Amino acid sequence: MPRVAVEVSGSPYEIVVGPDMLRHVGPELRALGMGGRAAIVTHPDLPVVYHAAVHTSLEGAGFQAEMAFVPQGEESKSLAGLETLYHRFAAMRLDRCSTVVALGGGVIGDLAGFAAATYMRGVSLVQVPTTLLAQVDASVGGKTAIDLPVGKNLVGAFYQPRLVVADVDTLQSLPERERRSGLAEVVKYGMIADAGLFAALESDAEAIAAGDLGLLTPLVVRSCEIKADVVRQDPHERGLRAILNYGHTLGHALEAVLGFGVLPHGYAVAVGMSAAARLAVRLGLLDARDARRQDELLRRLGLPTLGLLNTAPGPDAWRSVAAPKTSPLGRPSAAALLEAMLLDKKSMGGHLRFVLARGVGAVEVREVAAADVVAVLEEGTV
Ligand SMILES: NC(=O)c1ccc[n+]([C@@H]2O[C@H](COP(=O)([O-])OP(=O)(O)OC[C@H]3O[C@@H](n4cnc5c(N)ncnc54)[C@H](O)[C@@H]3O)[C@@H](O)[C@H]2O)c1
Ligand SMILES: [Zn+2]
Repeated sequence: MPRVAVEVSGSPYEIVVGPDMLRHVGPELRALGMGGRAAIVTHPDLPVVYHAAVHTSLEGAGFQAEMAFVPQGEESKSLAGLETLYHRFAAMRLDRCSTVVALGGGVIGDLAGFAAATYMRGVSLVQVPTTLLAQVDASVGGKTAIDLPVGKNLVGAFYQPRLVVADVDTLQSLPERERRSGLAEVVKYGMIADAGLFAALESDAEAIAAGDLGLLTPLVVRSCEIKADVVRQDPHERGLRAILNYGHTLGHALEAVLGFGVLPHGYAVAVGMSAAARLAVRLGLLDARDARRQDELLRRLGLPTLGLLNTAPGPDAWRSVAAPKTSPLGRPSAAALLEAMLLDKKSMGGHLRFVLARGVGAVEVREVAAADVVAVLEEGTV
């Protein structure tokens, strides 16, 4: 099984990636010398076979395991969701030698991770990500958080797991839009660090978008390697880690303006990467051919590009691209997006910081004038 080492100082751990991995969770943890009580934090509506496989595996390895169910949806990543989980942990009589196993997507990973970081000043955490986005991104790197009504991820902690187990078989039950959303992050890794990964996506884009597990597995492994390498160099997000925000400056603004949860995160990031590439072309950093190459790959993966902003006339266009859950929407204005970018906790002192590509596989972080950003947002296709 491929194993990726995450060399964070003081608390190194491994990511194990492969098929049929859920039943290896218990033995893997026993091999790390772990045991005792385990809370499996998960959604009740995930396939029951996933719950059963992890539970049986933990019990077989000598743990006393119990399920702690959390409703699906970003709303669970809240103070109320956290409080419910603490009460559940207390009822299960978790102690400082116990383990929290986060079985689910990024919502479960962030919530259970923060609960594990804080319950009794910290109990062991194991991430078992079941969405592509969580396997390539959220479960790696030790960021845990809950949301406040005024903003996402405002209360959190850096807290590294003891182990990450990514069972690629779980991706089979993942809805298409969740898979595509995760693929946007894989494109991001290609753009920021690995032209070979980008080319691998290009070689089989349609089969990858359709969920071919044989093709997805090496993409998960490579994505984890890249994130692990960045996290190793900058575990607390003081510098280099900013490159992981490629596509996210505009992506986050778009999510905020439309209302979180309307456009899947990866779709917003895809639009953000498309905009960032055009911005880089405008600033003379990137060849226009590379910007078109990125847009073409995004389209083949079923993801939107900047054109979405310029062509989407109203609610129907958003619905067709992403099947949004709620609210009728208009086209977000450049002014609204700009304001949201300036409000973002990552923008500093009124400047817009963008991760910009110099080519496929190489980026830099730059401060960009608002006028250039607005020009790109209003400009249309390359
Ligand atoms: N900590 C980090 O570094 C980090 C990084 C990126 C994102 N995040 C966070 O992750 C969250 C998004 O994560 P996500 O995209 O995984 O969303 P999610 O956890 O909400 O999962 C998406 C949906 O897929 C369902 N699901 C999960 N696994 C499934 C499976 N195998 N089969 C069928 N359905 C399945 C879930 O029930 C949910 O409805 C956000 O809250 C975001 O802030 C954190
Ligand atoms: Zn992201």
